[in-house]
Amino acid sequence: MAYDVIVIGTGPGGYVCAIKAAQLGLKTAVIEKRATFGGTCLNIGCIPSKALLHASEMFHQAAHGMDALGVEIQAPTLNLEKMMAHKDATVKSNVDGVSYLFKKNKIDTFIGTGKLVSAGKVSVTSDSGEEQVLETKNIVIATGSDVAGIPGVTVDIDEKVIVSSTGGIALDKVPGHMVVVGGGVIGLELGSVWARLGAKVTVVEYLDTILGGMDGEVSKQFHRILAKQGLDFKLGAKVTAVEKGEAGAKVTFEPVKGGEATVLDADIVLVATGRKPYTANLGLTEAGVALDNRGRVEIDNHFQTNVPGIYAIGDVVRGPMLAHKAEDEGVALAEILSGQAGHVNYDVIPGVVYTQPEVAAVGKTEEELKAAGVAYKVGKFPFSANGRARAMLATDGFVKVLADKDTDRVLGVHIIGFGAGDMIHEAAVLMEFGGSSEDLGRTCHAHPTMSEAVKEAALATFFKPIHM
Ligand code: NAI
Repeated sequence: MAYDVIVIGTGPGGYVCAIKAAQLGLKTAVIEKRATFGGTCLNIGCIPSKALLHASEMFHQAAHGMDALGVEIQAPTLNLEKMMAHKDATVKSNVDGVSYLFKKNKIDTFIGTGKLVSAGKVSVTSDSGEEQVLETKNIVIATGSDVAGIPGVTVDIDEKVIVSSTGGIALDKVPGHMVVVGGGVIGLELGSVWARLGAKVTVVEYLDTILGGMDGEVSKQFHRILAKQGLDFKLGAKVTAVEKGEAGAKVTFEPVKGGEATVLDADIVLVATGRKPYTANLGLTEAGVALDNRGRVEIDNHFQTNVPGIYAIGDVVRGPMLAHKAEDEGVALAEILSGQAGHVNYDVIPGVVYTQPEVAAVGKTEEELKAAGVAYKVGKFPFSANGRARAMLATDGFVKVLADKDTDRVLGVHIIGFGAGDMIHEAAVLMEFGGSSEDLGRTCHAHPTMSEAVKEAALATFFKPIHM
């Protein structure tokens, strides 16, 4: 039977695209090579890491954070096996949820490796080697990304001693010393998990700042907060070798500016130096699908590759490697395939780092506005002046609003603080509608909430905050 759409890969991009396509009446199938649906995000990425981030934060708070609230408790003991079981149960309920949604929307599912044969034809090879060819009007490549490794360095990631995020969420004991290569999102989130559970964590980062690309002020404060939490940072440091020893591993790094190399002994090395598009064994060459100079599937503004009828979305194409960006592309593409006008606003894609406190951003950073020569104004408000934050002892951090100097249109919002990942969305909605800092500052915010700091930062942008 011929399909309207076959989606290869069931991560957040692929599964959302398939569901939306089916909802719009297209005969849809998915192909997945993992035994469970949901891709990296649900199986070994966003979801399990959040289960561990939450559980480890609870452990840390019980060990350190309750006395001042008048809650006196015995020092907690860690049952890592149980914590991992919580993580596994969280993954299971999410991947089962995707299976349920596929059934509900009458989407055919094929477990096996999908390969392009040509426009209109996809083969699926099961683990036992059986191959079948499926026919379809449209093919969507949503195969995601894979660990990139350290540029220019040969590293044997065994997922036991030298781990990627995959092994980093499945350790069977708390390492004495964990060396994290890369101070990006994965390094800081998983570094936080193991530091909270008792590991000494050293983060070695090539750039002079952590979370390169983030607003500079936020990144500096974030660095200070994480250092206060006990993470040790070696910035401006290039890792040149990671070698396994008899026990553990050795990490060699040298100052980027030049100078002597340092060697660190580690029980576990977490390699978190980025991800690369996953295009292996997909039959792209055979089908004539072009890649760009960074190995990503090249697409036009409607997600179509150079071969008509073959489309691609998510981590395998240009843009930030974020689950929600892939989801929105999946929805837009399904709409386009059903004859509607699908669209993604790439200027309003929030980014969140799920540490404690969280860091969240949407739109431009101050550095980007400066570089683009845009005349802007800034309003800031610290959580130390927010009543709810004081009541919760969550006063670390601030909100920063950037708006066009002439029109007052909000161009970027940056938050570091408890719950930043949820608060950022009022800024995203505002920006989606082209709102101004005055619009945001004049919107009634419930009291007492952390979100009042967003309103106050907006007030500070167009006039003056009340509570400062
Ligand atoms: P990343 O690109 O965020 O960070 C990698 C870091 O490694 C960079 O800061 C880079 O300067 C550094 N680096 C590279 N080579 C190095 C060397 N030789 N020595 C020292 N440092 C070196 O990559 P990451 O953290 O691996 O994440 C991969 C992708 O997954 C990202 O695109 C990220 O957005 C996404 N992700 C998003 C999450 C979220 O939204 N909360 C959570 C986890 C991952």
